[in-house]
Amino acid sequence: MTKRISLTRYLVEQQRVDGHIPGDLRLLLEVVARACKSISQAVNKGDLGGVLGVADTENVQGEVQKQLDIIANEVLIEANEWGGHLAAMASEEMDSIYVVPNRFPQGEYLLMFDPLDGSSNIDVNVSIGTIFSVLKKGNDNPDTIEPVCEQDFLQPGSQQVAAGYCVYGPQTTLVLTVGDGVAMFTLDREQGSFVLTRENVQIPADTREFAINMSNMRHWDAPVKRYVDECLAGKDGPRGKDFNMRWVASMVADVHRILTRGGVFLYPWDKREPDKPGKLRLMYEANPMSWLVEQAGGAATNGRQRILDIQPTKLHERVSVMLGSKNEVDRLTSYHSTL
Ligand code: AHG
Ligand code: MN
Ligand code: MN
Ligand code: MN
Repeated sequence: MTKRISLTRYLVEQQRVDGHIPGDLRLLLEVVARACKSISQAVNKGDLGGVLGVADTENVQGEVQKQLDIIANEVLIEANEWGGHLAAMASEEMDSIYVVPNRFPQGEYLLMFDPLDGSSNIDVNVSIGTIFSVLKKGNDNPDTIEPVCEQDFLQPGSQQVAAGYCVYGPQTTLVLTVGDGVAMFTLDREQGSFVLTRENVQIPADTREFAINMSNMRHWDAPVKRYVDECLAGKDGPRGKDFNMRWVASMVADVHRILTRGGVFLYPWDKREPDKPGKLRLMYEANPMSWLVEQAGGAATNGRQRILDIQPTKLHERVSVMLGSKNEVDRLTSYHSTL
């Protein structure tokens, strides 16, 4: 019988054998995984659990919140606040950072999350997920212990110490990197544990599949329009091959497909809101997904710059995103410098 490796064992080995992660980070990731299990249960219950539908509130991005956006956010906070491994958390669904209350010990990590990604798909029973990113609280002067503040979060994605997502689809799958490649863990519902099902995930450099919301075509910038036009021209066009298109409208599901069989995902800046750099959020969508994609041999840029090199200026910063198969992302990036 093949040996089953649980997430717990994988993390222990990352800590013990490979020295990749300190004990506190291991605990943090275990707790995030536990929270994802509980969100997965709520998602699976759907109407039976009374968790579907909208709430009467808007988040800081001006989006109407779904009940599950709020529930998932609460599950992640409650699971993580007491363990002593975190200094603070930030989320798509909270206006400002959540500092670990005084009644609990404070740790040195910062956790960012998109508690429920793909909100428009919740009620229609299509894959959704949770995305997370972990940074270490920087301390320029170790003699002065400053209280944690929003500024501590404003680190480029290249500083992440762990990142991942959990996709709630036909299977619940947790996908993780701690800087040692990408591993996938499938939830065994009977056992209640995540089991390692794929390791050293690699995205092929070439693809015949792209993902973009085509309904925004009229708003696109010239380089994006050129790229998609060339894909649509098929084997008689400049690319010399036919392309397929997929758009789940849950970033977790679209990125999961790309990690599984390659492809390119675009949510570019467009002319609808010229002053906004893009729709997706840098800190809890673009950065963790970009690191996963790079760890799997792919690439991620905003068209002009590597996403992981972007210095954030605010917590809820938005960004243009192009990620996936390396040769496609390189092509898109080169179109942005020539047009
Ligand atoms: P969220 O549900 O966390 O707000 O994120 C939704 C994002 C992302 O998951 C997806 O790729 C994109 O929005 C879909 O946008 P459109 O509805 O514009 O296609
Ligand atoms: Mn949202
Ligand atoms: Mn999202
Ligand atoms: Mn969300």
